[in-house]
This record gives sequence, structure tokens and C-alpha cells, in this order.
Amino acid sequence: MRKTFFITTAIDYTNSPPHIGHAYEKVLADVIARYHRLKGDKVFFLTGVDQHGQKVQQSAAKAGIPPAEFVREITQKFVDLWKKLDVKYDEWAETTSDRHKKVVQGILQRLFDAGQIYKDKQAGYYSVRQEQFLTDKERGPDGEFGPEWGQVEFREEENYYFRLSQHKDWLLSYIDNRKDAVIPDFRQIELRNAVEKLSGDLCISRPKSRLDWGIELPFDKEFVTYVWFDALTNYISFAGYDPSLSTISSQPSTFRDRWPALQIIGKDILVPAHGIYWLIMLHAIGFPDDQIPQLLVHGWWNLGGAKMSKSAGNIIDPFVLADKHGAEALRYYLMSDIAMGKDADFSEERLVDRYNSDLANSLGNLLNRTLSMANKYGAGQLRTTAIRLNEESKQIPVGKSIHVMSSGEPTSLPSNSKELGLRDLIEKVPQIYVPAMSCFLVSLGLILPEEISEHCNRLVEKTAPWKLAKDAAQIHRLHAIVYHLAESLRIIAILISPVLPRAAHGIFDQLNWKMELSGQEERFSLAAAEWGILPDGHAVEKPVPLFPRIEGA
Ligand code: ME8
Ligand code: MG
Repeated sequence: MRKTFFITTAIDYTNSPPHIGHAYEKVLADVIARYHRLKGDKVFFLTGVDQHGQKVQQSAAKAGIPPAEFVREITQKFVDLWKKLDVKYDEWAETTSDRHKKVVQGILQRLFDAGQIYKDKQAGYYSVRQEQFLTDKERGPDGEFGPEWGQVEFREEENYYFRLSQHKDWLLSYIDNRKDAVIPDFRQIELRNAVEKLSGDLCISRPKSRLDWGIELPFDKEFVTYVWFDALTNYISFAGYDPSLSTISSQPSTFRDRWPALQIIGKDILVPAHGIYWLIMLHAIGFPDDQIPQLLVHGWWNLGGAKMSKSAGNIIDPFVLADKHGAEALRYYLMSDIAMGKDADFSEERLVDRYNSDLANSLGNLLNRTLSMANKYGAGQLRTTAIRLNEESKQIPVGKSIHVMSSGEPTSLPSNSKELGLRDLIEKVPQIYVPAMSCFLVSLGLILPEEISEHCNRLVEKTAPWKLAKDAAQIHRLHAIVYHLAESLRIIAILISPVLPRAAHGIFDQLNWKMELSGQEERFSLAAAEWGILPDGHAVEKPVPLFPRIEGA
């Protein structure tokens, strides 16, 4: 049986409602999942919410309701948002569920029995906001703990510790032996530097006297589990992992078929949470190196160059944007206006501009004029043709060059794309679109369908079909142009379907193509992104505006 492409995201913290950063990460994961389904891969996409911890307990207390009720309300907002944005996952992780608790407790017990967890006393400064003890490293140049730590207090308490530092050498050698442990490369370097500085173990408990909103330690009822230890475990607890079985080979086949995952996280939770705690946790419970997940680390959306935060009051609400401009406009903006791994500045004006130029003016216009011409000059029917319209596009200047990463090597393809005809460009799908999407470079993957769309529009302007229509001797040429445009649209729909599933269906519907699968993702397949599939005599629909312009936003 074919191995599953297993993709996870960070589980969102339920102490406050979703913001645009959450939306970015989930849409990114959804696009990667949809791309793999498009390729024909079996996909398992897990996402969810992180429901325990001190911050949740505090927010619930502030709201005057029990934590369970508080997280239920916030969780619902995340569920509603993913539905609104067409984020289609296969399993939903909620860390208060019994299934998850059993796995967390099973792992804790195993580590405890193996001597990997011990009890010790600690005294020091503690950040309530970050839920961690602070060391002198965390002090600013003025000797004080900065405002990012929130309220800091002196604490002395007994707790349970996980022998993190015992595994430091293993982690270094794992990172050195696996070049793509973390993507992009500069994050792997950042992680390695952090691991080199690692000292001390990880406190994995909180006394119930100050935090009871957590999973009880199986070996001591006076304590609950530290929220990160709890949350990180979601990646295996919701994938079918059985904690009573200590080797991977003895795990149920559902788990073995899925694991290891590609894990999508933001840059703030690589060090120490995922890159150190999580990888060491997996190693300590018996995961061999080839079963350690790969970490794909994305950058952040900022606002006016500053970090978005609830306390700064500059949170962008994805519900408002999706209601105002549509889910697809938001998905398109989030996928096209940020480079993988880098930060970007959020701008509603850019969202509207990109939508209007790339979708309304370019692709929407192409669909509209193609179907109008098919109806006007061909009674709605397409005529296949032996004419290859490369010559018409040869002289057309192309604004962008296309750079992709192919098997780790940067390739520039082709900076002189003005030399390419339309058909040549479409035949570049395997060399441009596939490597970009396979390397998670979604904004680069979108360049090819955009380029095809622009090429088509220029072809129309250059060949002026309305003039050809007046000359009976040009009828074959006219039919050939319309066919080229319709075929291009069919292929564009396939290529954009991971990012813009609704628009892709809209294009297929108007092309009257694969109607029996209308609304279903199976309608699209990468194998069909090749020339000449629409048959002779195929009847298309009348045009309906697909991307109405956003005016005066
Ligand atoms: O960290 N831009 O939850 P979280 C892009 N519960 N991504 C952003 C962002 C922004 N402005 N702000 C946050 C947690 N994110 C933990 C994770 S995993 C076992 C537990 C990303 O709700 C952030 O980087 O604070 C993270 O990947 C995700 O949103 C959830 O952040
Ligand atoms: Mg966070």
C-alpha cells in the first residue's frame, strides 16, 4: 500500500480567537495537502487546538467562566474559520479529549519507568505569560526581564523533570546527518546553534496548587503536565499512536502508514519547543532517526513592520476580511504575497490590488472573453486544431522571470520566458510548477498559471480575433485561438486548484468540463494538466463573472 503524505500544523492556542497568522498557517497546510491530493497522493492532514495551560486558565478566569467552557467557545471559532476558508483536514486535535490524555499519560509513565523523568526542586524567576522559569540569559541589557515576559515572579517549587540534556549529542548528530531536518536551511542553522547552547533539563509538571487546567501526571496526582509536553504529543496521539507499544514496528499499521509527518510551524516555536523538546521526546520514546518528522518553518505576518499582538491591539481578524472580500481573495493573498520562510507585512490594500490585477483583470477577464468568443464565433463549441499558436506569442515581452528550487538546487527557468510561446509555457508545468509546489514555495508555484493567463490575454490583444471574424479565410485561425484559450483555462484551473478551489470549480463549470464531479476535489488531477484534452465540438457555457472587481475598498 502507498505511504501517506502526512501533514500537521501547530495546534492553535485557545486563549484568544484566531487571527490572520493562524489563517496563514492553516491555508498553507491546506494548499500543500490539496497539491498532494492533486498529484494523486494519499494525504492525511491533522490540525486542531491547544486547550490546556496557564494562559487559558487565566483568560477563562478573567472572562468569569470555567476553562472548559472558555475553550469550547474559542475552539468553535477556529472550527468555523477553517470551514469558511475551505481548510479541509482529515483529523481534528483537541487536547482536552480522552484519547489524547491517554497517550500523554502513557508516554509520561513510560519515560518515568525508564528513569527519563525525575523529581527536583527549583527556585527562580518565572514568567507567567510564557509559562517558564527564566534564567539570566533572558535578562535585557538593563538586567531586567523585558516586557515580552509579562508578569515575572520569584518561585520555589518541586517539580518533575525530563532528562533533555542527556539527548543533546544525539540531537546534534541527527541535525548534522540530515540536511533537510528543518526547512528553510537558515532555520536549521538557527536550531543547531540553539542546541549547542542547550543545558539543563525540561520541567514537565506544574503543581496543581497553581495550575489545575491540564493533564494529571499518571505517577503523581498533585501535578498536571506542562502544556508544551501535552500539546506536542497531539501529533502522534491523533495519528493513531499507541503508547503501550514501545517500538515503531509494533505500532498499528494506521500509524506506521502515516508517520513521519511534515510539520508546519511558525518561526517562534521552532526553538525550543519543536526543534528541541519535541524531537528529543520522540527520540526518548524510541523513534529511530528516519522516523523523526521534518519541520517546515514559516515566517510571520506583521502589521506596519510591527508584530501583531492582542495587547498591542493590532490583530487582523480573518473573519472580517473573508466576509468583506471572500475566502478565495484572502487565500490568494496569503499564499501569493509572502515568500516561504520569510516575514511579510499585511496590507488590505495589497490584498485588494492583487485580487483586482491577478484575478479580476487577468484570469477573470480571460475566462470572460474566451467564453464570449466561443459563443459568438463558434456557437459555443470548441474546434480542436493542428495550428500551434507559438508564433503569435513569441514576440510578446514577459515581465517576470521564474526561479524555482529543483532538488535543492536553485534553477532559473527561464529568465527569457519572452522567448516562450504559450504551448511551451504550458509544457513547463513539470519543470516550474511541480518543483515549486513540491518544495512548498507556493507563491512561486502561482507564477506559472498567472503567466499563462497573461500570455493568453496578450495573445487575444495581438491577434484581435474580432478582426479575424470578419474574414472567412481566417476562420480556422480564429477557432485555433479560442481553443488555445479554453485549453489554457482548463490547465490554469488545475494549477490554481490547491490555492483557489472554488474558482477552479467555477472555471470548470463554465467550461462545462467534468460536470459529474462538480464541487468535488477529485475533479482535478495534475496528470490532466497537459495539452489537448478538451475534445472537438465540446460545448462551453455562457460567461459568468468569476472574480468581480473589488471596488473602493
Ligand atoms: O504557539 N504570522 O499557538 P499560537 C504567522 N499552541 N504565523 C503566526 C503568527 C503571525 N503573525 N502568529 C502566530 C502556539 N502564528 C502553540 C503551538 S504546537 C504543539 C502548539 C503561528 O496560537 C505560530 O507561529 O500562539 C504557530 O505556528 C501558530 O500560529 C499557532 O500559534
Ligand atoms: Mg504563540
